[in-house]
Amino acid sequence: MPDKTLTGDVTYPSEETVQQARVPRWEELAAEAEKDYLGFWAREASELYWSEPWTQVLDDSRKPFYQWFIGGKTNIAYNCLDRHVRTPHRNKLALLWEGEKGEFRSFSYFALRREVCRFANLLRSLGIKKGDRVTLYMGRIPELPIAMLACARIGAIHSVVYGGFTVEALAERIEDSKSKVLITCDGAYQRGKIVPLKQIADEALQRTGTIESVLVVRRTGQEVNMEQGRDLWYHELMNLPIANVDHPIEMLDAETPLFLLYTSGTTGKPKAILHTHGGYMVGTYTTLKYVFDIREEDRYWCAADPGWITGHSYIVYGPLLNGATSFLYEGAPTFPYPNRWWQMIEKYGINILYTAPTAIRGLMRFGEAWPNRHDLSSLRLLGSVGEPINPEAWRWYHTVIGRGRCPIMDTWWQTETGMFMITPMPSVPLKPGSGTRPFPGLHMDILNEEGVPVGANEEGYLVIQNPWPAMMRTLYNDPQRYVDQYWSKFPGMYLTGDSARRDEDGYYWIIGRVDDVIKVSGYRLGTAEIESALVSHPAVAEAAAIGLPHEIKGNAIHAFVILKAGQARHDHLTEELRSHVSHELGPIAKPEKIEIVDSLPKTRSGKIMRRVLKARALGQDPGNLATLEE
Ligand code: WT7
Repeated sequence: MPDKTLTGDVTYPSEETVQQARVPRWEELAAEAEKDYLGFWAREASELYWSEPWTQVLDDSRKPFYQWFIGGKTNIAYNCLDRHVRTPHRNKLALLWEGEKGEFRSFSYFALRREVCRFANLLRSLGIKKGDRVTLYMGRIPELPIAMLACARIGAIHSVVYGGFTVEALAERIEDSKSKVLITCDGAYQRGKIVPLKQIADEALQRTGTIESVLVVRRTGQEVNMEQGRDLWYHELMNLPIANVDHPIEMLDAETPLFLLYTSGTTGKPKAILHTHGGYMVGTYTTLKYVFDIREEDRYWCAADPGWITGHSYIVYGPLLNGATSFLYEGAPTFPYPNRWWQMIEKYGINILYTAPTAIRGLMRFGEAWPNRHDLSSLRLLGSVGEPINPEAWRWYHTVIGRGRCPIMDTWWQTETGMFMITPMPSVPLKPGSGTRPFPGLHMDILNEEGVPVGANEEGYLVIQNPWPAMMRTLYNDPQRYVDQYWSKFPGMYLTGDSARRDEDGYYWIIGRVDDVIKVSGYRLGTAEIESALVSHPAVAEAAAIGLPHEIKGNAIHAFVILKAGQARHDHLTEELRSHVSHELGPIAKPEKIEIVDSLPKTRSGKIMRRVLKARALGQDPGNLATLEE
């Protein structure tokens, strides 16, 4: 039994949870990983298929460019699909899907592999080879994971752009990755309306010149412009003999790039995080297995979007590597009614629900009556990710959704880490708002400005001290920025960009970002991107964006703009600017409020002091103003 001596507001696991857990206790795994860290990861890796074994688990001779499973050959798509198709798992459901309109599709492991092989052949016929980049800009439909796996199968590098992004965000990501092929949809359903993905893509393609072919998956059925010689219908190509099911898979070096995923950073352009076949595979497989105690009979639902790292690691790769049944839902949580999610949990008998605090807060707003109308007794475990969960939302999730029986796995991690880093396991005592402790074997610390570990409950920089298999390998196109941004502040340690504190029980509490990243509804946005979208409007000379607390979204964007000389301040201008940002970047980046100002607080070197703007907006003391210009 866990010792019951922890401090603060603790929720101990029930006898039932502890007895029924089919994974080892946290202490047991941690002891194993502490004794032999590389041996622990090697044991996990050996549960997967390698056509050639690795000769070295970790190569740290070129720090911080770590490499894992050197000499090993594998392919993550093989381990997700082919490995299971060779066993009685062949008929098991790999993917369950419900459309916003209520349609249902499902794929057994056999069927999913078949589709992936056909798609892989199709990509080959378009001239895509190992190492080529393919951008995916799609809604939440089965063809998205199928396309990702098809790229992986042939060693192409996928770059998924979230379907909620728009023109400028998409163009920039295509351009930076120099993708040759774009895979998109005619449209995506969102709250009963159609998001015109193809139309947005057409506009983006006018701003970039690397795309040779566009594959369009039909989903919403409206008329779209198809450019001759460039645009191709997926369903037409899939009917051709080139979309053959025979696809001999190529085994790849463990360090072969698997995907790029763009994420917002401190300054300037979004960063292209690079993950690889071998290490990422081992990391996502292992963490999902232990944290969500994935069982043969489980139906597991990660309600994120496949376009974010959560979806990559824990809708697509992690679950399939574990032979699990992963559920994907196309639409909005409250459409057409606020019980949509609860209805689907009941209908499909979902056992594990993994979502974000913002979604919980959004659903909580509609009251208990909606979930209470449904039988949610299939749920065994819950999960949370993306931002700190406030105790009120934790309680509601725990009592109303989990009916007090389901532990909440509050997983802290990042696009860069690829896998869960601070997380409980099912029998770990929980404290609402804390992700508990680092995953077995990981060493993390909290440092002050001088790099000295702070005392219990003191705030500081959260760092990671040892490498892990699913860690990013570099920033694609910018290895120097990788070194500067993540490994330079405290030499030898990975800087997370978060501030945190650790309590007397060794539990970690994330406070928030210490850089210019704003978490809006769990989505990561950079002040720089929002500002550059604002400045791209003809009326704007300068802009500054900050995040301010918001009840549902966690943070909301507030922007301050200086107009160009001679620009009249008409009534609709701020509204027009908000729509402009939404058009350029996507609705998620739309500022809550825009204020027109005459000047912005700057340092003498001309940098905007966002913390001063923020303090002023919150009515707080702006702190040290020594560097302020005026
Ligand atoms: C940032 C990373 C990793 C999946 C989704 C986000 C914040 C993430 C938690 C959590 C408190 C969290 C951090 C982190 N964050 N999970 N459980 N508790 N904060 O990935 O977009 O790369 O963002 O999200 O600030 O640095 P991401």
